[in-house]
Amino acid sequence: MRDSPHMIQAVKGTRDILPEEVGRWHFVEEKARRVFRRYGFREIRTPVFESTDLFARGIGEGTDLVLKEMYTFTDRGDRSLTLRPENTAPVVRAAVENGLFRHGSNRLYYIGPMFRYERPQKGRMRQFHQIGVEAFEPNEPSVDAEIIEMSVAFLTELGITATDLVINSAGCNLPHCRQAYRGLIQEALASHVEELCPDCRRRLRENPLRILDCKAGCRRFLNELPTLLERQGPECRDHFNETRRHLDLLEVQYRVDPQLVRGLDYYVQTTFEITGKSLGAQNALLGGGRYDGLVEALGGPPLGGFGFASGLERLILSLPPGVGEPGPGPDLYIATLGRAADEHAMLIARELRKRGLWVEWDPDPERSLKAKSRRAGQRQARYILFLGEDEIRRGVLTLKRMDGGVQTEIDASDLNRLTREVGDA
Ligand code: HAM
Repeated sequence: MRDSPHMIQAVKGTRDILPEEVGRWHFVEEKARRVFRRYGFREIRTPVFESTDLFARGIGEGTDLVLKEMYTFTDRGDRSLTLRPENTAPVVRAAVENGLFRHGSNRLYYIGPMFRYERPQKGRMRQFHQIGVEAFEPNEPSVDAEIIEMSVAFLTELGITATDLVINSAGCNLPHCRQAYRGLIQEALASHVEELCPDCRRRLRENPLRILDCKAGCRRFLNELPTLLERQGPECRDHFNETRRHLDLLEVQYRVDPQLVRGLDYYVQTTFEITGKSLGAQNALLGGGRYDGLVEALGGPPLGGFGFASGLERLILSLPPGVGEPGPGPDLYIATLGRAADEHAMLIARELRKRGLWVEWDPDPERSLKAKSRRAGQRQARYILFLGEDEIRRGVLTLKRMDGGVQTEIDASDLNRLTREVGDA
């Protein structure tokens, strides 16, 4: 595309989804709807922007996501708003606000755009799309296993099988669990403060666990430290073992990775991620875990939460070839010559469209019947209907199958027959 001074380009980190690729998006979205419904999930749609406060409180003030990656702006009414960088906190907000917890448990899913100010690269966008699920129900390890099993089933149904599932436990907020581990990190780093990156110096005070997720390598000072998985309290250890037992029961293949750190603060106990082997550096296909406490923190009842979200762009990059390719073209393409034929074609098109058929035609008087019939081929029409001067004079329509070339003449007033011929493909 030549650059013109008048041309405005899509904003960095965003892209258009073009007609020839949209079939793959539909394929993934429809599979998600079908699979999630079988597990009792219902769809929810929430606004793309929310009060900034929701994310600061929901995701955690000390996370990179909140500190560095949010699209936050002040609107004309002086409110601080943020384009949603994720959808767990908004779904909890919506469920609380709309009384969805009145009858207890709820299983909800969503599909839509999210926004993060990150450095764009293959599979990492500033506007990207997530398909996600949230199960709000009492904390039972069988729920963790069931939802993880569903995420695997979803990928399998998409034909994405070269994947790796890792699980870990983030512990909980009891004093002898995560809090004790925070103390261990602080102790281990007390003599390395000067060597830490500026972010980690702050994290050491405010949120030491985040140092495990440092992109600048500060984690190296913690290599000797036992992992949180080894140090968590007996409640979390039992929960993790039970989750693993249920995963085994469901024959889910996984690996335990004590180094797995998720980028959001709301997680407790089980966390998991599935990576795709065909993706590059940005290989996380989906991730999630348990987040008990978030519903209550946002004003709801003391109900557990477990969910995950998957990046649609990454799913689409991982689909096997040929999946969701554009289907065949129109049922019928009408090639006309002359004004009388055009008017007749319009009426035929209207009638057949009413009967559910996909009909296209081209009123351009400059193009010959031959050019129009070439166009029918390009559009991959199944049938072409010729309506030239000869047909108009004789009161007939000439119908031809695009593949076999068999030609039939139909009485111009017999639209029932035309519908039958074209409809019975
Ligand atoms: P997350 O790991 O931040 O989790 O994002 C989930 C998935 O979204 C990632 O695994 C990745 O596929 C995709 N993703 C994230 N950032 C980008 C990006 N910049 N460009 C393209 N794809 C991206 C969450 O968002 C949690 N809310 C998941 C969850 C739901 N946990 C519990 N319930």
